[in-house]
Amino acid sequence: MSTFAYPIEPDLITVEHLNECSYTDFVGIINQWNVPPGSYDTLSRWQVFGGVGSESRVLEIASTTGFSSREIARSTGCTAEGIDISEMSIRLAQYNGERYGDGARVEYRCEDGLELSDDRTYTHIVIGAAAKFFPDPVKLVLKCTELLEDGGKLLASPFYVEGQIPEELIERARGVFGITVTNEPYAEVFQPYAGLDVLYEEHFAPRQETDAELAHYCDSTIQRFSRDAGVTDADVLDAARARLLDIKRVANDLRPYQRWATLVLGYRESQYPHRYVELF
Ligand SMILES: C[S@@+](CC[C@H](N)C(=O)[O-])C[C@H]1O[C@@H](n2cnc3c(N)ncnc32)[C@H](O)[C@@H]1O
Repeated sequence: MSTFAYPIEPDLITVEHLNECSYTDFVGIINQWNVPPGSYDTLSRWQVFGGVGSESRVLEIASTTGFSSREIARSTGCTAEGIDISEMSIRLAQYNGERYGDGARVEYRCEDGLELSDDRTYTHIVIGAAAKFFPDPVKLVLKCTELLEDGGKLLASPFYVEGQIPEELIERARGVFGITVTNEPYAEVFQPYAGLDVLYEEHFAPRQETDAELAHYCDSTIQRFSRDAGVTDADVLDAARARLLDIKRVANDLRPYQRWATLVLGYRESQYPHRYVELF
């Protein structure tokens, strides 16, 4: 018997609910460790080029199940907070911090990123590729500048596209993720960050994963869900695995069109939102 109680009510862990709940609730219920584009590689670059250290105070916006904040806190010793609008995800983020954080100093709360009001300021704010999930990314970035200390850093990794994603694939992705995936070129995706200094910028093209890699990931996540939540019903586990694989397949099919930029963006109160320094 685990000493960590799984924070999801058993009556939400049914075939019907797993098939019908929203994408964000599903990620929370099965405890998928949703990552920013680039995964650990992106975290390493943010830490090194953004100067995250043990004295840093990090806020992750749209943290889902807490991957970025937890792993950055684990490896640097900083304190980190995470917020997300999905209660299921926040419950699992808190659980992961306690169970898998190796003593990381992390805290999570359910909150709307656009409504955030805080007396505290942060040295770093992680938003990964999440700006796209907000109705008004410009307002979100403005909100981040209010929460950053002078000289603080925004850590982002937005997706953009080269060429055009076929309409049929955009539709499939909308069915799976419940949002319209990014289909804009870099200049457009970068627009909300225009008032910040580009301290570090690197562009990447994701490779497609093999069927064996997708299966390894899905099997591992579902086996952990089974163990941690005490789920033994084969129909429930099959339903969870099928939906996770569906999500991973659509994401994988999008890869040839997608690029992402790993960014460290500097906020200086005396300069924001102007650009006095050339981009290139
Ligand atoms: C794809 S995930 C973010 C991915 C990942 N954290 C990253 O770094 O790219 C999108 C998350 O945004 C959250 N979200 C959407 N709207 C939000 C809002 N207004 N406030 C806070 N979180 C929100 C969703 O609940 C979901 O967990």
